[in-house]
Amino acid sequence: MNALVTGAARGIGAAIAERLAADGWNVHAVDLEDGDLSTREGNRAVVDAALERFDGSLDAVVANAGFQHVSPLRDFPEDQWDKLQALLLTSPFLLAKYAWDALAASADGRFLVVASVHGLVASPFKAGYVAAKHGVLGLVKVLALEGAEVGISASALCPAYVRTAIVEAQLENRSEEELLAPQAVKRLLEPAEVAAAAAFLLGPDGRSVTGAPLVLDLGWTAH
Ligand SMILES: NC(=O)c1ccc[n+]([C@@H]2O[C@H](COP(=O)([O-])OP(=O)(O)OC[C@H]3O[C@@H](n4cnc5c(N)ncnc54)[C@H](O)[C@@H]3O)[C@@H](O)[C@H]2O)c1
Repeated sequence: MNALVTGAARGIGAAIAERLAADGWNVHAVDLEDGDLSTREGNRAVVDAALERFDGSLDAVVANAGFQHVSPLRDFPEDQWDKLQALLLTSPFLLAKYAWDALAASADGRFLVVASVHGLVASPFKAGYVAAKHGVLGLVKVLALEGAEVGISASALCPAYVRTAIVEAQLENRSEEELLAPQAVKRLLEPAEVAAAAAFLLGPDGRSVTGAPLVLDLGWTAH
């Protein structure tokens, strides 16, 4: 089974790539140097490279690359807004579009987006990120409906805070206690925990999950 994983140089993407490889997948792991996924050309390049490596056969795509920008709305840089939409929302659309025929040709095509609990709820000062993550869950629903016709399932992961560079940057300005306040369970998720959920969704037991996210939010949305 062949998978393309984006944003795989570190953090959650690296953990997913490592876990899938350990589970026996052939993994084409890409990051910025393989293509800037905030551009159409970058998304085209990584899908083409994966198809070339796997002789045209692709069974799973994991759209994971992302970043965060924290700023009050009235100061929110418009370029950062555009870049967040391009990477968190448009890149998954382009990856799905470009990989669609190959996934449809697979016996069991899967498309997985690493979304966020911020696809379900908002936090202040994260307008670009929250809007894009809400949007990508809508995209996953459409992919599931269209994918049902051709044997592709589409799902998403909605983790709370995970111990990666994105969170380390936020901890420079806020205490861990403050950051974790919305979570019922006061700890960071580990990248390997998110990777285990990805492995489930992409594996044979995850086949029934399509058009919906798997929420790993440590009780955030239970309030
Ligand atoms: N860390 C968290 O708390 C958390 C929680 C929920 C969801 N997420 C999501 O998980 C995904 C991975 O985030 P992470 O926490 O592992 O962050 P990270 O910063 O450790 O990793 C993100 C990776 O994406 C790559 N990337 C960034 N911009 C890119 C671009 N334009 N083109 C190609 N690659 C690019 C980076 O180089 C990096 O390797 C993101 O979509 C993020 O929104 C993270």
